[in-house]
Amino acid sequence: MKKLSVISFVLFMVVVAAISCSDVKRNRGKAYMPDMSDSRAYETYSHSPVFADGQTNREPVAGTIKRGEVFTFHLAKDNVGDTANYFASKAVRNPLPALDAVDLKEAERLYLINCGICHGAKLNGNGPLWKDGDGPYPSKPATLVGDAKYENMPEGQMFYSVTYGKNLMGSYASQLNAKQRWMVIAYIKSKQTKTQPVAAPVADSAAVKTVAAK
Ligand code: HEC
Repeated sequence: MKKLSVISFVLFMVVVAAISCSDVKRNRGKAYMPDMSDSRAYETYSHSPVFADGQTNREPVAGTIKRGEVFTFHLAKDNVGDTANYFASKAVRNPLPALDAVDLKEAERLYLINCGICHGAKLNGNGPLWKDGDGPYPSKPATLVGDAKYENMPEGQMFYSVTYGKNLMGSYASQLNAKQRWMVIAYIKSKQTKTQPVAAPVADSAAVKTVAAK
């Protein structure tokens, strides 16, 4: 008899547990101040009545630094027609310590993914999008290796151009974070010094081609 009551008690508990688990509460009762429990967010691409321009997508507030963006670069993008910050960027030094072999390999990988298509795997400005002018790109990418102009370009100025874009080259700030951009520039610099002495003059484009072909 005792056994039977134990068994029936256990069974009863199992049934109660099963019922209470399946009973999903769909009604949360009265909501006091519903704005506090329901988000009033707008869909990403929907019209926003809050802003004068009606846009819901906003630029981040000026001066916002992305989480994880370790290095600050104090030079803002120049206004159209102004080049003060572009020239000031010449004085900015790469904040990274010298890259070890692993980091250099990673920098090369980032370069080949993001830049090689235009600037070429050999950094000679002749990537698949340019192909000696036969490619679809309308403007010659800079000859990063083999042209004295770019061999001598300070790393800070390269960083400026990669961050904000230069003429037909867009900004790479959204694809590569600041550390990755400095790494890619360190990679370019490492190739430059290896391929050609820094101040070597390059007389004309034929000479550029000869150097680049090596
Ligand atoms: C879609 C093609 C394209 C891609 C991709 C590209 N560039 Fe460029 N880049 C150009 C062109 C075109 C120029 C020449 C801009 C000018 O001076 O008119 C240029 C110029 C440059 C310069 C010289 C900037 C200056 O101030 O004169 C640097 C440095 C450079 N690119 C680095 C990079 C790096 C690093 C990447 C990858 C993160 C990259 N580029 C990706 C097309 C490209």
